[in-house]
Amino acid sequence: MAILEAIDIIKQYKRAGHTVTALNRASITVNEGEFVAITGVSGSGKSTFINICAGLDTPNAGSVMLGGRMITSLYGDELTKYRGKTVGFVFQSHKLIPHLTAYENILLPLNAADRKLENHEERFKLLVDSLGIRDRLSHLPSELSGGQAQRVAIARALIHYPRILFADEPTGNLDRKSADEVVDLMVQLRDSLKQTMVVVTHDPKTAERADRIYNMEDGFLIEQRKR
Ligand SMILES: Nc1ncnc2c1ncn2[C@@H]1O[C@H](COP(=O)(O)OP(=O)(O)OP(=O)(O)O)[C@@H](O)[C@H]1O
Ligand SMILES: [Mg+2]
Repeated sequence: MAILEAIDIIKQYKRAGHTVTALNRASITVNEGEFVAITGVSGSGKSTFINICAGLDTPNAGSVMLGGRMITSLYGDELTKYRGKTVGFVFQSHKLIPHLTAYENILLPLNAADRKLENHEERFKLLVDSLGIRDRLSHLPSELSGGQAQRVAIARALIHYPRILFADEPTGNLDRKSADEVVDLMVQLRDSLKQTMVVVTHDPKTAERADRIYNMEDGFLIEQRKR
């Protein structure tokens, strides 16, 4: 079943008097439990596209169905609330709050999602143990390695049981070894939690782990044949 269906997304930016078309009828379908990778050269529109799919940005035309709702018809608080409970997001830079510990960072999305405390404990333990960060929970982000910080960011993105995880270059700032570890963990979480994920990546090794790969070419997505 499709959890994400974006159809004919168009996004244009006006810059210095002329129009830049970042997305030109880009479409994607992601089924529940799938790991889909999006590749493409710098500036091809990957970030713009997943931001729109996640409800962080709005298109000029086209529609996004996410988790059964047409999010391109939602606005303001209604969109924020729906996005908060439906989506997890991981960025290239971990974007952890610097003055909060790893533990506090992971729990951040829960307030927004308004869940009961007793439901969190099991999920928290599962994520922390799966991601191997149990002994790092009292650390501040500045006291974590790049790979550890990104693993904390993944736990934070998943703590509230989002139906879909979006990641924009999650391994882009990591060395080869840490990048491989993070991707291994993401694949394991996809398997154990049946977590749907859409990952933007420059890294062919990361893309190769996905079930399906789309390439962004001139603002248009083309599904690649897997080897
Ligand atoms: N806020 C903005 N204002 C104007 N132009 C923008 C804006 N955001 C993106 N663009 C333009 O849209 C195009 C797509 O950008 P986008 O960041 O989505 O590409 P990308 O594929 O994610 O690139 P990268 O691999 O470098 O992250 C680029 O030409 C970019 O300059
Ligand atoms: Mg980008």
